Amino acid sequence: MNDAGATGGEPVAEDLSEPVLPGRGASDYERYLRTDELLSLQKTPEEWEHRDELLFQTVHQSSELWLKLAWTEAEEATRLLDEHDVAPALRLLRRATECMRTVHALLDMLEQMSPWEYTRWVRPLLGHGSGFDSPGFNGVRRVSPALGEAFHRLRRAEGLALAELYRRGREFEDLYQLAELLTEWDERVTFWRARHYQVVSRIIGDEVVGTQGTPVELLGGLIKRRLYPELWRVRNELTSLAQAQAGGDSPVPGHGR
Ligand code: HEM
Repeated sequence: MNDAGATGGEPVAEDLSEPVLPGRGASDYERYLRTDELLSLQKTPEEWEHRDELLFQTVHQSSELWLKLAWTEAEEATRLLDEHDVAPALRLLRRATECMRTVHALLDMLEQMSPWEYTRWVRPLLGHGSGFDSPGFNGVRRVSPALGEAFHRLRRAEGLALAELYRRGREFEDLYQLAELLTEWDERVTFWRARHYQVVSRIIGDEVVGTQGTPVELLGGLIKRRLYPELWRVRNELTSLAQAQAGGDSPVPGHGR
């Protein structure tokens, strides 16, 4: 942007490298993103008991950010559904599921830690800290039921049973997409849980107890939990209906798979 000089002479070029935003930091990049505060949220090398603390804190802190974005988008999608604004809600739900994909991928990094070094040096520093107190994952847990209810309200308003919606998906494209995105959301949350259990087993073992006394085995049990069990059950119903329609034991290719 150029400014005309007060004297009406040559325009004075604005120095674009100078910050214009308020806040801490030498540049607008640092000020807007609050990098000073962000990068001071990890222990310094002088504070480390073990250098893997940086990896551990980075994975957890970034997971919290992505989980926060995930549940915030899912919550707003619920509000939009309550206003019958389905298409924008679909867009936000796609984002939310992408967030879960990212959080899932972050877990890979933890396997770069040695199980011995983690349990010997890092784990004792965590006190009674437990993932059960994760604000991000608790947010996901908190907003998910209302999201499911908003979907079912819209479906019922059309007088559709779940199986009916799937059978007539092309007539109710938005609702069909919504049902599938909720299934995807459920699947992504479950994938994260399953992967987390795998990583935990690989690092501290699967026959030990967590920092809050929870047996790791119990985490394995949580993998079977579904956010929306009805969206999974309906597939059984569809398989039965399809088989009945095809004549039960008729020699349809792929029958019974
Ligand atoms: C070295 C890596 C990790 C280990 C050893 C670990 C260990 C555990 C253990 C033992 C539990 C059971 C509760 C307890 O007693 O603490 C748990 C739960 C949990 N952890 Fe982790 N965890 C790791 C990484 C992560 C990361 C990166 C996150 C990301 C936010 C996370 C989030 C959670 C959540 C949300 C739960 C509750 C699980 C659920 O409700 O299904 N954990 N973790």
